[in-house]
Amino acid sequence: MIQLHDLFFEKIISKIEISQAINGIAIQINDDYKRKNPVFLIVLNGAFIFASDIIKKFQGNCEMSFIKVASYEGIKSSGEITTVLGVEPSLEGRSVIIIEDIVDSGNTIEAIIKILEEEEVKDYRVATLFYKPKAYTKEIKIDYIGLEIENDFIVGYGLDYNGLGRNLNDIYKLKNIE
Ligand code: IMP
Ligand code: MG
Repeated sequence: MIQLHDLFFEKIISKIEISQAINGIAIQINDDYKRKNPVFLIVLNGAFIFASDIIKKFQGNCEMSFIKVASYEGIKSSGEITTVLGVEPSLEGRSVIIIEDIVDSGNTIEAIIKILEEEEVKDYRVATLFYKPKAYTKEIKIDYIGLEIENDFIVGYGLDYNGLGRNLNDIYKLKNIE
């Protein structure tokens, strides 16, 4: 068990399981995009570690771009999305792979896709390391999923609780207080 700020977390997913899930996604993305010169659009801050793994395994030409939106405060989604850092330079006409750490309600991914549609990208797909199917409220297809999880709040591998926990190599979930 570990403590971050005021809360306690217990380990639920090992780094080995994570690396196997990432290998699976990397194989699919290589198959689908090797000759397409895609842009990996990395959703800051949480997705940077996962993105680095995927990009190091990519075997064709590719570019990277970064976007930052904010919705979470503490352990709850506020529902309202604000763009903190927009896409620059323009992604018009490009094949974009959105790289997310986790898809929860889907509010964030929906907001990012709205931005890509306004940018008139050629096409886009969504890759996420973690997915909470029971929390997801949108119709948007999630093309590449690493691991499906329950409606737990998790930290590690880029994911944080109020800034802490991103450096953990395994995944921990918030412990229920009895
Ligand atoms: P959504 O907009 O509800 O899909 O939430 C997506 C964003 O909320 C993710 O990009 C994360 O930054 C954050 N988030 C969602 N669930 C968790 C979690 O369990 N731990 C840490 N951050 C999370
Ligand atoms: Mg995020």
